[in-house]
Amino acid sequence: MTTDVTTDETNGVAADGQPIVELRGAGKSYGNVRALHGVSLAVPPGKVTCVLGDNGAGKSTLIKIISGLHQHSEGEYLIDGKPVKLGSPREALDLGIATVYQDLATVPLMPVWRNFFLGSEVTRGPWPVRRLDIATMKKTANDELRNMGIVLDDLEQPIGTLSGGQRQSVAIARAVYFGARVLILDEPTAALGVKQSGVVLKYIAAARDRGLGVIFITHNPHHAYMVGDHFTVLRLGTLELSAGRSEVSLEELTNHMAGGAELAALKHELAQVQGVAVDELPEVGDLKQSAAS
Ligand SMILES: Nc1ncnc2c1ncn2[C@@H]1O[C@H](COP(=O)(O)OP(=O)(O)OP(=O)(O)O)[C@@H](O)[C@H]1O
Ligand SMILES: [Mg+2]
Repeated sequence: MTTDVTTDETNGVAADGQPIVELRGAGKSYGNVRALHGVSLAVPPGKVTCVLGDNGAGKSTLIKIISGLHQHSEGEYLIDGKPVKLGSPREALDLGIATVYQDLATVPLMPVWRNFFLGSEVTRGPWPVRRLDIATMKKTANDELRNMGIVLDDLEQPIGTLSGGQRQSVAIARAVYFGARVLILDEPTAALGVKQSGVVLKYIAAARDRGLGVIFITHNPHHAYMVGDHFTVLRLGTLELSAGRSEVSLEELTNHMAGGAELAALKHELAQVQGVAVDELPEVGDLKQSAAS
């Protein structure tokens, strides 16, 4: 996996490393429910920012603010250093902030290349004889997937026949092609096995290497630690931890995510992710030790 390839100053990476998107003490209430409070986060180009947290921690609320689905009700949201209030996901997309949701917006029976251009089809010829430019779309999809190192046998195959990891990869390549500067991935590995997760992590690294600021939402600290440059852990809607890679170990990250009894629940989850029977896993104490080694 090419997770440690260093990024360079190409691909539009700002020389001063100014964050593309930034939250300062941001929060959001739904009526009486304070879902998010006092959260700060900066997403620089060419880095992977991981957002971790248990169910209900506020991860989705955070990305809904960044992706323009909801407006923050406290604090500030800045894009390229300027405070904004986004009115819709379209506005965010126009500013280069693309979100890949877990239930990908694809049409399973349509070919891969057609899904690549879904909603942004290339056409040719003047009205009223305007037609889809199929040749251009096929070639571009093929080139772009290859550029990201994604090799598919046949772009004519329905996207529904690809594995979950491959579909996520196509979505990532698509966002890169359509000019995303920030790529938000909401739990892209949650429903995937180890190998498929590896595939997605590889293309997260590829997007980062192309200079995108990646926001990777997950509740798996192992996945986060494989590609992350910065880790933001949310707990009950507030910031539990915000640390760079050099400031936190995988074990510390795991402990911030879940302490004591909660770690037992995580063990159960790990068992599912790794396809291991729960009783074959080491006890919680052992798990902490092995995470450290
Ligand atoms: N539309 C809403 N109306 C009222 N409360 C909401 C709404 N959306 C989220 N909440 C509440 O806000 C809190 C944070 O929810 P959020 O969905 O952001 O968590 P999450 O970290 O994404 O959790 P999960 O891992 O389960 O996806 C929860 O207590 C949730 O019940
Ligand atoms: Mg969520």
